[in-house]
Amino acid sequence: MFRILVLHGPNLNLLGIREPAMYGVQTLSDVNMAIGQLARREGIHVEVRQSNHEGELVTWIQETRGQFQALVINPAAYTHTSVAIRDAIVAAGLPTVEVHLSNIHRREQFRKRSYIAPVSLGQISGFGPMSYLLGIQAALDYLRMRESDERKELKKP
Ligand code: DQA
Repeated sequence: MFRILVLHGPNLNLLGIREPAMYGVQTLSDVNMAIGQLARREGIHVEVRQSNHEGELVTWIQETRGQFQALVINPAAYTHTSVAIRDAIVAAGLPTVEVHLSNIHRREQFRKRSYIAPVSLGQISGFGPMSYLLGIQAALDYLRMRESDERKELKKP
């Protein structure tokens, strides 16, 4: 069974209350419930965590080694500042999908730069809570393709 870690960065614990016009009215537990439903439908294990602390996110990313096959992360404000999170992703060598609720490319200039995107498989931005579901789906698709390529490789004479 594939194991995917979903990380929510700072201030995402305030979803539903925080800038609802920008981030919507669904709470973090609503989002996590939808993630749980997707995981059951796909027959995968998804673990979800949230932290307001950069170092804690870094530690969790480091600890994925041997525990998870992919990472889906909304680094929130750390997207635009954190070399530490970027380096942790590279060190963990984990296929990563970066997700955002809002479309960071149609907002302030400082949000357009992501330290995480260059070390990710890709970025999904602007679809509200659906961004997480699309991100998990993309990570899962990547893992399934990789597994089927490895099987084909093994069968070669
Ligand atoms: C966000 C976008 C970031 O720029 C912002 O700092 C957030 C949330 C999003 O999901 O749209 O906290 O990551």
